[in-house]
Amino acid sequence: MPNTQTPRRVEAASLRSQRWFAPDDLRSFGHRSRLRQMGYSAEEAEGRPVIAILNSWSDLSQCHTHFPERVQEVKRGVWQAGGFPVEIPVLALSEMFMKPTAMLYRNLLALEVEEVLQCHPVDGAVLMGGCDKTVPGLLMGAITANLPTIFMPAGPMLAGRWRDQRLGSGTDVWKFWAQRQAGCLDSCVWRQLEEGIARSPGTCMTMGTASTLAAITETLGMMLPGAATIPAVHSAHSRMAAACGRRIVDMVWEDLRPAQILTAAAFDNAIVTDMALAGSTNAIIHLLALAGRAGVPLSLDRFDALSRTTPVIGNLRPAGEFLMEDFHDAGGVPALLSRLSPLLDTSCLTVTGRTLGENIAGAEVIDDRVILPIDRPLSQAGGTFVLRGNIAPNGCVIKPTAAEPRLLKHTGRAIVFDSYADLKARIDDPALGCTPDDVLVLRNAGPLGAPGMPEWGMLPIPKPLLEQGVRDMVRISDARMSGTSYGTCVLHVAPEAAVGGPLAFVKTGDRIALDVEARTLDLLVDDDELSRRRAAWQPPAPKFTRGYGRLFLEESTQADLGCDFRFLERGAPPTEPDIF
Ligand code: FES
Repeated sequence: MPNTQTPRRVEAASLRSQRWFAPDDLRSFGHRSRLRQMGYSAEEAEGRPVIAILNSWSDLSQCHTHFPERVQEVKRGVWQAGGFPVEIPVLALSEMFMKPTAMLYRNLLALEVEEVLQCHPVDGAVLMGGCDKTVPGLLMGAITANLPTIFMPAGPMLAGRWRDQRLGSGTDVWKFWAQRQAGCLDSCVWRQLEEGIARSPGTCMTMGTASTLAAITETLGMMLPGAATIPAVHSAHSRMAAACGRRIVDMVWEDLRPAQILTAAAFDNAIVTDMALAGSTNAIIHLLALAGRAGVPLSLDRFDALSRTTPVIGNLRPAGEFLMEDFHDAGGVPALLSRLSPLLDTSCLTVTGRTLGENIAGAEVIDDRVILPIDRPLSQAGGTFVLRGNIAPNGCVIKPTAAEPRLLKHTGRAIVFDSYADLKARIDDPALGCTPDDVLVLRNAGPLGAPGMPEWGMLPIPKPLLEQGVRDMVRISDARMSGTSYGTCVLHVAPEAAVGGPLAFVKTGDRIALDVEARTLDLLVDDDELSRRRAAWQPPAPKFTRGYGRLFLEESTQADLGCDFRFLERGAPPTEPDIF
């Protein structure tokens, strides 16, 4: 039944979908007759909001294996509220299986979303995603289309288990892999870990990229309150899916669109949440791209400014101790935001039609060990710092909470790898002569160099050093790093080496100075010598000369700008299609 409580700003006759179905002409006859072909009567399908459910599912989207069930639950909610649900499959970005990296295809998903919303007779959209790049990809396209939109998150998977230990996605893999490389872990244990670390549908259950982006999306106001942390297999997840279906129908009647929700203040709120959770460094790139789509000016400096005033109070791996189901049981994002409310603009509008402040009224922290009190944070300053210097004139980032404190101010000898293949070939070679004080540098791993900016930024510690017990070193690259990773890793160096950024001119043996507190990263080589190296530099050959890869190389911006395609950044709003 339609929700008669909803104050309607839109009449049925002026629904966008009515342009396809209402006119008494030949073309609309065709549209209506094809609805009949599909088995829908006029009462079921016409004069109701048509809701596109964009389902980023495939047999290889490992974190979305519950979506075939969830989409039925979303549809149930849409029917209940008087809408007409239509499922539209969109590119399922599989973080694990897509090579060289799912990031290469984030913009392809964004482009697809924009186009499928534009060309079909739909009035609103439910975005079904969760695995890393699906979240920004779906949102970027939907922001541009600017139809009423709500995000239904995949939810985190159950905590992993090995013997009496709880395992965290990624974070514990890196830890146990280092032990295996050091010769301290046998094949049998390694196999047991493989079977216990990913035990259910859902996204990585540490505060990696998926969890960070879910929390950010809820804070932005694009998700129902409390939705971000519901475990994928919890019955509450099914109920949330149906609630998304009901709510989007009301949003269409209310004409509540992303442009009303995604303001500069909403982005500031999202950054505060990111910092308080010591979230994935990837979130910075995606937030820059989302803000670009929303027409909100945002730069790396804003992240650094808010990081200075936001304490880390999410005690979640990899920076802290707990996992996503603990976060959910502790009250989830509403509880976190209630604790952060002095740092937030709570007047921001959300998909509920209410403000963020109204959404979190009454939220309470159930477990102070998971969501820490503001005066007992993991760290006083936020999760990600922005550094600049002659290696990264346009900026780079580091997550200090993931680093060994002794390395946060460090000068060392550079050991340079020209590509990931070069790194793999030489990193464990004793002839490298690597010491714990050296600085590992990987280049040509950025947006255009790799291309797609893979998560290669947590360079492995050389095996001879692992065997000596070394577990962290300063590492610098123009790549990204998995949000579940840790270490003193300087990432997203911009401009990247492949376009002639200064990282291209570093030589093995140079000295590099890192000072995280001062926010600096410098190559200790004089300007004349750098100029000589620049003059002798030759750009690497492009990895793609045709197809989508070529489009990416020609149109992607750099990391400090969000890596969106230039022609997709905000311009004139998309034009409505002619219907002839
Ligand atoms: Fe899907 Fe980590 S692999 S969220």
